[in-house]
Amino acid sequence: MDISTTFMGLSLKNPFIAGPSPLTNSLDTIKRLEDKGIGAIVLLPLFEEILQDQQMALFDIIETPAESFSEALSYFPEPDRPIVEADAYMTHLAAIKESTNIPVIGNINAVTEGKWLEYAVGMQQAGADGLELDFYSVANDATESGEVIERRMIEALEAVKAGVKIPVSVKVTPFHTSFAHFAKRLDAAGADGLVLFHRFYEPDIDIENLEPISLLPLSDSHRLLLRLRWLAIVSGQVRCSLAANGGVHSVEDTVKAVMTGAHCVQLTSSLMKNGIEHVERLNKELARWLELHEYESLRQMRATMNIERIPDPKALSRAHYMRLVGSWETP
Ligand SMILES: Cc1cc2nc3c(=O)[nH]c(=O)nc-3n(C[C@H](O)[C@H](O)[C@H](O)COP(=O)(O)O)c2cc1C
Repeated sequence: MDISTTFMGLSLKNPFIAGPSPLTNSLDTIKRLEDKGIGAIVLLPLFEEILQDQQMALFDIIETPAESFSEALSYFPEPDRPIVEADAYMTHLAAIKESTNIPVIGNINAVTEGKWLEYAVGMQQAGADGLELDFYSVANDATESGEVIERRMIEALEAVKAGVKIPVSVKVTPFHTSFAHFAKRLDAAGADGLVLFHRFYEPDIDIENLEPISLLPLSDSHRLLLRLRWLAIVSGQVRCSLAANGGVHSVEDTVKAVMTGAHCVQLTSSLMKNGIEHVERLNKELARWLELHEYESLRQMRATMNIERIPDPKALSRAHYMRLVGSWETP
């Protein structure tokens, strides 16, 4: 069964990409992911200097969810600290490229236009096959409009696209007033791929000690539903490739993401919960699922359930919500 795909012009032997996490930080773990059949990897981001403290703080809370999955801890070593220094990051990236044969996607989380470009050029020189621009920002400045934030993202993308030859994807959050419009803008600005969606980490509140609690819990398949909706809406409207990111745990999740329009899926929580061997199972089960359902290839199935092709497009709209709410019966 042909389960190969392409993502932003890169050929992948299967649709499974390891998303940025401690698993894509150490060369040893990356080589094991390759052995188990991962299609590509996205490295942890290189953060612009002014964001590096935030990256370290994020890394410090990672142990909390990992410890609650003690069975998974045995699958991968204590994560290395993320690399925060640009030259060291480029050397690490070059070493990964040297020792692997899968596409390696460099990852950037910057603030200023100059740094987006500088890091992109550095990663291209170090051998990255493609880039992911990590547009993770919490819009907490009430004086800044959505238009200003989106324009800044578009300008960063345009600057990177003008400066490198390798393909460039952007990882976005769903928190845009008109996501379909923003997706079209990114597409028009030259994005080769969109990654839907970043999962914001959501701090809880400790009501006894009056302080925020930082947690990074692993996801489950429910997280995928938001991605499916927007993949279905956007996939007929953009030229670029699409990746589902968030809540992909099983073959069924993968099938749903591809049917709604994804070219590939990024995995993080499912690998952390089930171990690296999970990729091997997913590859086998995906091929078997396609065979059983009489598809000739994964590509044949892509976007067969997007908004243009589903029998009831209203299922994705407000009308369906009203019908559902109206039919609710108190148990
Ligand atoms: C422990 C952990 C660390 C992560 N670190 C990063 C990161 O540094 N940069 C990033 O873009 N995403 C990071 N993510 C987010 C994942 O790449 C992914 O977008 C998110 O977890 C949703 O996918 P999932 O449902 O498969 O976990 C991290 C996720 C986890 C669980």
